[in-house]
Amino acid sequence: MLNSLTAQPKDKILMLMQMFRDDPREDKIDLGVGVYRNADGVTPIMQAVKTAEQQLWQSETSKSYTGLAGDPDFHDVMIRLALGDSAQRGRLAAAATPGGTGAIRQALELVRMASPDATVWVSSPTWPNHLSILRYLGLNHTEYRYFDDAARAVDFDAMTRDLSQAKAGDIVLLHGCCHNPTGANLNISQWQEIARILQKTGAIPFVDIAYQGFGDGLEQDALGLRHLAAQLPQMLIAASCSKNFGIYRERAGILIALADTPANAALAQESLAFLNRQNYSFPPDHGARLVTMILQDPALRASWQSELEAMRTGMLSLREQLASQLQSLSGSDRFAFLASHRGMFSRLGASPEQVEALRRDRGIYLVGDSRMNIAGLNARTVPILTRAIIDCGI
Ligand code: LMR
Repeated sequence: MLNSLTAQPKDKILMLMQMFRDDPREDKIDLGVGVYRNADGVTPIMQAVKTAEQQLWQSETSKSYTGLAGDPDFHDVMIRLALGDSAQRGRLAAAATPGGTGAIRQALELVRMASPDATVWVSSPTWPNHLSILRYLGLNHTEYRYFDDAARAVDFDAMTRDLSQAKAGDIVLLHGCCHNPTGANLNISQWQEIARILQKTGAIPFVDIAYQGFGDGLEQDALGLRHLAAQLPQMLIAASCSKNFGIYRERAGILIALADTPANAALAQESLAFLNRQNYSFPPDHGARLVTMILQDPALRASWQSELEAMRTGMLSLREQLASQLQSLSGSDRFAFLASHRGMFSRLGASPEQVEALRRDRGIYLVGDSRMNIAGLNARTVPILTRAIIDCGI
């Protein structure tokens, strides 16, 4: 049986991670996988997480199962974090999932269960694993134009023209903030326009929010999705705690479904629990419990928020340093977009050959489409990258 397996398509981000690990050069620079790093190149455990873990170790008396959809307190705090008070609690269903990717997978399984013929619209470009999961599940999908390569900004006219073609019941996958891989985001009036288009077409938004707090701030980053929730009858949200709580390996995420009526929310709740049961039964709880403790405790929450804010402003400062050093060295403004993008990623605009040259000759790792993780930089490596970009003729 096993000998009839064929080789699976490789995930380019994970492949790059392995190449970086295997590279013996000591001065190599990892700007590949989307993991936050501080100035020492370390992915730190946040202080609030450490404290919550200590408290949990002392207070936890059982590791028996939680609910099939996870702990209701986790639902409540995460719904509040993502949606504020933009949607009535009675119209919401939620299930804890293994990370944000688990939420995406369960959301798309829910789509396949409820409307197998729907088309899922994804931005061009998008996170490669969106496409991989869609293909794996056999769902119809198509791309809408999103990023203007020349302007290095959102091509909003093209985006709205494409999305106006969506049919009632189609699913439109949107990045809540910090678009991956481009770093180019919608402003609030553009979100309002997207809401109008969705209202008109009857297509249903599915918002993937994996970087809340990494862009313009915790509240700011959720404004777009909150606007959609306030305006539209139905919506799906996949939220991740990996990045903003720094608990990557704990696999904490949530799938939230907004239904038009409380009765349909109850149906969705049942289906989410059913899907969890089919795929892995009970979701992991450790990370979700830490998040719940942090968000429920004012002192832990304040500590978490200030550390998150320091991470965010640190990334912004790296963006500004890189843009300004590139401006000085190139004598042009063509890299100014780096300072206006938000989140961990920007696409540099290098060709695959230039990306390859950066890796081969300088030990600088970017994803092949020239996506770079800003958080992989620090004050010492910004000038090194700047020099390499200019020397490679980018
Ligand atoms: C990324 O885009 O690099 C992250 O979301 C990590 C991953 O799993 O791909």
